[in-house]
Amino acid sequence: MSKSKLIAGNWKMNASLEGSAALVRGVLDGLAQAQPACDVAMCAPAPYLAALQGWLAGQSAVQPGAQDVSAHASGAYTGEVSADMLRDFGVRYCIVGHSERRQYHGETDELVAAKTQRALAAGITPIVCVGETLAERDGGHTEEVVRRQLAAVIHVNGHCITEVVVAYEPVWAIGTGKTATPELAQQVHAALRAQLRAASDHADRIRLLYGGSMNAANAASLLSQPDIDGGLIGGASLKAADFLAIVAAAR
Ligand code: 13P
Repeated sequence: MSKSKLIAGNWKMNASLEGSAALVRGVLDGLAQAQPACDVAMCAPAPYLAALQGWLAGQSAVQPGAQDVSAHASGAYTGEVSADMLRDFGVRYCIVGHSERRQYHGETDELVAAKTQRALAAGITPIVCVGETLAERDGGHTEEVVRRQLAAVIHVNGHCITEVVVAYEPVWAIGTGKTATPELAQQVHAALRAQLRAASDHADRIRLLYGGSMNAANAASLLSQPDIDGGLIGGASLKAADFLAIVAAAR
């Protein structure tokens, strides 16, 4: 079964309200000239989600996304944003368990699994990130690490795993300009696919994104791999021309 690829931009904590408006305008203008052959999402910082909903209103080429969600439904969790709140602002995708959340905010596999569940319950597609550090890769533990991270999400979410998007983001490739070679990325994606197949009869429907220094120059070769179904783009999603070039490479 063929599925459309997904290119999602992760702005992280970058840009300004004005800069974000210009970026969205640039991307929408570009896509109006050349309709994308893939699904496209832009994952904005939480305070910009209301504005993003407005900027993206009345078109369907780009869907709004968030970068994190609370593991709790509601209550006394100062600073947290619930999945229902995200849905109130039209959010369709939500990044969950990004390595920066795992690394700087102590997010565990179990917490990531709970956040995934919250997003799914609100009808938001979670983009669940997995990936190994350089030390883990050098130690030969890549597959063991990503399998452990994914296993926690499968364990908690059961058959709903087919509604999830998985992003393989090797930590050593994020923001470093070091991209995994297409072959190396494919190898990990194939391992993740095998794990998903063992959990679900519909695993081939699940989109597996690659993330980590994906750019206009390397996108086509990464996206041509059999188990790479899209990209999660950091730095290159902050410039309309670069992001559009990656979208154009996804067909
Ligand atoms: P870069 O594309 O800047 O390496 O970031 C990747 C990433 O972390 C996307 O979530």
